[in-house]
Amino acid sequence: MLDPSQYETYQSLPPLAGLCSLQRAAESDWSLEESVARLKRLHYSFKRLHESLTARITGEPIYELKMAFSHHAYVLSEQVTLLRRRVGEMREPPLGLEDVPHAALERMHDQIDGATGDELLVGVYQVVLPELLAACERLQRDAHPLADAPTVRIARLMQFELTDVLEFGRQAIRCLIDARQQPNLEPWQEFLTKCLAAAGSIDGTAAPDGEIPEPYRAEQPVTFEKEPRRDERFIDPYNAGVNPEAFLYDPNFSARDKTLMMYYKRLRELDVPEMMASILVELKNEEPWEFHQEMSRQLWDEARHAMMGEVGFVSQGIDWRQIPINFTWSRNLNLQLDARERHGVLFFIEQGLMPRTGKRYEWEVAKESGDPLSALFQDFDWADEVLHAQIGRHWYVPRFASLNESLQYGDRCWTKVLSHWREYREQGLTEHRNWWPGLYEQACRIWGREPDPRALAFCETYEDSRADLQKLDGG
Ligand SMILES: [Fe+2]
Ligand SMILES: [Fe+2]
Repeated sequence: MLDPSQYETYQSLPPLAGLCSLQRAAESDWSLEESVARLKRLHYSFKRLHESLTARITGEPIYELKMAFSHHAYVLSEQVTLLRRRVGEMREPPLGLEDVPHAALERMHDQIDGATGDELLVGVYQVVLPELLAACERLQRDAHPLADAPTVRIARLMQFELTDVLEFGRQAIRCLIDARQQPNLEPWQEFLTKCLAAAGSIDGTAAPDGEIPEPYRAEQPVTFEKEPRRDERFIDPYNAGVNPEAFLYDPNFSARDKTLMMYYKRLRELDVPEMMASILVELKNEEPWEFHQEMSRQLWDEARHAMMGEVGFVSQGIDWRQIPINFTWSRNLNLQLDARERHGVLFFIEQGLMPRTGKRYEWEVAKESGDPLSALFQDFDWADEVLHAQIGRHWYVPRFASLNESLQYGDRCWTKVLSHWREYREQGLTEHRNWWPGLYEQACRIWGREPDPRALAFCETYEDSRADLQKLDGG
């Protein structure tokens, strides 16, 4: 008879493909049932947090948080996808992934959806995500390393990614919530902790302890804030006094000068996550998970494009806070169109970026400009936009009889959006100041070059045209 403790692998190679020791693999205290139950619990909380953060992107004024929520919502969407796939490998449909695993978890997430800004930060980054991280660690430890190796793998991946997400959250809380405010947030934290105790921890590994606490706030319907908000660094956001597309496509201007307009266009893309978030919120129950996953990726790409603009300006030594970063595109679309119409406009615009005059042109201009950072950013921006056009073909176009029809619909939707260019001026919201000459002169000083008089005189606005240079009738 073989003595298990004397068992040897070939020349003492690590056993079991390096997964674990023989002794650990011989333990039998795990089951498929247990694995599925834990994964479904995690799936519920990850998905709810993805929804919570997505719903905050538009109304969150602080730019750095807007970008972080875009990133973290994307990371969570990838994790939700890993979890759904793994449950699907172990169960036949219906998988029950849309079921609420415990009423206490539902109460907790419902209240996070209605939380104020500080409460959201504390709830997500100081309570729920650390619990999820701990649950991923438990899953790695408890799941059978050989029989349930695919589960162990995704638990490791999730833990790895969550560590960075949590680090951002810890720092954000330190920067934004001072010590005097912390005690005011204690009852909120206590409420969330009670929910977790009543649920038997986020993954169901503890014995349920205590009643489900009463809602922290009296039940009030959580309404999505569809009007984009920006922090105080964003001056004059109604200003549409400079039309960067008109400059970019004018052959009279130099590639070097055009890079400034491209950095502006990238940073202005901040309005795309603000708009896309509203599509995801409003179509939450109307589209399958895969729609949300792919659109969350696209949303995050648009946030990255905005940050590329930020980096571009900073690397040139230019303070972007002196430039009005317009938000009326997302504002008008969110307030005037429904989610399907907004998706139509998005697809129409992104499809229009594919011909030679679109993203390839921007990349060629950037390469010619002698600014290697602009070339790098435009190269990746172009690749991302190709992906976005594919996402549109996957989720938007099949709703129509043909590609052409889908484009016509998007074009019509965009045409019907009122830009309110003159009204904003009449209401005193902006003077549509031409900020370009000031920016351009400053850049020329930094570059040690004389400004091109024609470029300096550029003064086209958006008064009568939209961003694809199509003339608007009326206003
Ligand atoms: Fe983009
Ligand atoms: Fe895009």
